[in-house]
Amino acid sequence: MEILRNVVILVHLVGFAVLFGAWVVEAVARRNRITRLMNPALGISLLSGLALSAPWGLDHDLNYTKIAIKLVVLLVIGALLGIGSARQKRTDALPSAIFWLIGILTLLNAALAVIWR
Ligand code: HEM
Repeated sequence: MEILRNVVILVHLVGFAVLFGAWVVEAVARRNRITRLMNPALGISLLSGLALSAPWGLDHDLNYTKIAIKLVVLLVIGALLGIGSARQKRTDALPSAIFWLIGILTLLNAALAVIWR
């Protein structure tokens, strides 16, 4: 059970790595675009996060306040990806506030996970 849980955490980390990595590539290249990888990466983070939110394979309690906040943050990231992609298609430009919020909120969720125990 514990090994299986660790595998789901690994999948969850892959979701984070792909989402944040795809965002960093755009930020460093100063393109500031939403790219195709970001949506499936967010989906992986959501599904694996929900699986990890059930108390299995654990010897301690889960922090459900933190988990609820992470879920809300993820939903906001999803909304920004949706609104941003539509804008990008329509006007070929993405408001920089949307682009930066996506990266900052992704990092915020990782920070909540590792700093707030
Ligand atoms: C962009 C979205 C997200 C990012 C970047 C993210 C990031 C992370 C990271 C880096 C960890 C590893 C923490 C560790 O093992 O020390 C983690 C663990 C975890 N995440 Fe997420 N996460 C996201 C979304 C979610 C969502 C939506 C949920 C639940 C609804 C969730 C639930 C959990 C749980 C239960 C754990 C393991 C237990 C814990 O240490 O709190 N995550 N997350």
